[in-house]
Amino acid sequence: MDVEEALKFTDHLALTTTGKHLDSLQKAILRGAWNNQKYKEIAQEHHRSEKYVKEVGFKLWKILSSALDDEQLCKANFRAKLENLRVGNVSLVGNGCIHIGNISAENVHSPEVSQPEPQDKDKFNEKTSNSEPKVHLDLADAPEPNLFYNRTSELTTLENWILGRTRLITILGLSGIGKTALTLQLIPQIQHEFDRIIWRSLRNSPPLASLQTDLIKSCRGDAPVPAPYPEEKATAEGLPLLEYLRSHRCLIILDDVQTIFSSQQLAGNYQPGYENYGAFFKHITESSHNSCLILLSWEKPREIAALEGENRPCKSLQLNGLGPEAQEIFREKSLAEPEKWSELIDLYRGNPLWLNIVATFIQDLFGGSVSEFLSYDTLFLGDLESLLHQHFDRLTASEQQAIAWLANTPEPADISKIPENLQLSPPELLKVMQSLGRRSLVETVKQNGRSHFTIWPVIREYITNKTPSKNE
Ligand SMILES: Nc1ncnc2c1ncn2[C@@H]1O[C@H](COP(=O)(O)OP(=O)(O)OP(=O)(O)O)[C@@H](O)[C@H]1O
Ligand SMILES: [Mg+2]
Repeated sequence: MDVEEALKFTDHLALTTTGKHLDSLQKAILRGAWNNQKYKEIAQEHHRSEKYVKEVGFKLWKILSSALDDEQLCKANFRAKLENLRVGNVSLVGNGCIHIGNISAENVHSPEVSQPEPQDKDKFNEKTSNSEPKVHLDLADAPEPNLFYNRTSELTTLENWILGRTRLITILGLSGIGKTALTLQLIPQIQHEFDRIIWRSLRNSPPLASLQTDLIKSCRGDAPVPAPYPEEKATAEGLPLLEYLRSHRCLIILDDVQTIFSSQQLAGNYQPGYENYGAFFKHITESSHNSCLILLSWEKPREIAALEGENRPCKSLQLNGLGPEAQEIFREKSLAEPEKWSELIDLYRGNPLWLNIVATFIQDLFGGSVSEFLSYDTLFLGDLESLLHQHFDRLTASEQQAIAWLANTPEPADISKIPENLQLSPPELLKVMQSLGRRSLVETVKQNGRSHFTIWPVIREYITNKTPSKNE
């Protein structure tokens, strides 16, 4: 076992014991322990106090000691213990795939020992039967989990939907709002429900046929395949994947789904050649199976609106910003004046990525002084501009017109009163507003019993700053 394998293994140990992945500092401590580093050195490298790193380390050894049923485990012997660990039915294979059965801390060096002995202390195994294999995680395409705050109610909602046999879940929200981070947190909470969990990003816009072939390969896992599955069959009509979704309970997560939608068209319209994804999503929702597909996207696919409903197996979660717990981000970045932090969270609507960018800026430019930052009249965008540009680049000319109107309207706008300069008919404007809503760019608020439309301060600032030529 090398340090990377040890980290992967320990991460899963932590995950099954505490329900959480290791965070970056915990990993740094483990790496440090592996390389015989002192706490002081780890603390210096990670810009933390030695006391704090020691505290985190102490808690970490406790977690690992209890997971491995070895009270002696500590920083000094972590490497030796892991190197001598017998990993029953835990195979650390390439491409980030990990098969987990159970673990035991006997002094036999054999990562591929079969016939594992059940271990009651392994929480993962408590929740499932002792037959193997428990779950096949194919998270090669998923990013590493990072610091994560709150989102308890969203996690509960998602868990309930999954337990209620929802087949298609869409998590929607602007870039940086935390869709990927939330789903990474969800996995340990629900993994015992599934035989296979597969994460794929659509960032390179794979055609449906190749995605299906890839998913089928992953679904097969190590199970013997009755006959070679011809790749071209995956391109045929029907849904070859379905056979696997029926025979195993699979959770498939597709991230960055917006890449299969067209720019300069209303939200959720597929790019040419990707229209069959629509039928795929519909098929997954309507066919009978116990698997689940989770989509993470900036835009809501068109079919979803018609398919979703309270008693239907298709649901979507609009992810909003973090609340007061986002203050942890500022604490982590050592910003000053905590009494001003809620104002900052409000201005940037709790978007964790935006808050991280802003906090770094405040630290770099104002030595952490939030009040100095807030004393400027204009809202800082900086690196946010290029993030927002990716969203605005996708808008149609009508959407650009409508959002520019909202940006110039200080109060929430009543769309029954269309201004003359907006050359859109009432039905056109309604369609455009729906599309902007499906992109999470416009919010609806009720005033005097009527729906009014508004946009966030950051988006207003971005549109106002845009050069006139871009607005046309
Ligand atoms: N609940 C949270 N607590 C702390 N940090 C968070 C939280 N959620 C997200 N983040 C951080 O915010 C950043 C953006 O999150 P994430 O990548 O999940 O956004 P996203 O919605 O998937 O964005 P995109 O659509 O661009 O993929 C990441 O650095 C992530 O670690
Ligand atoms: Mg993401």
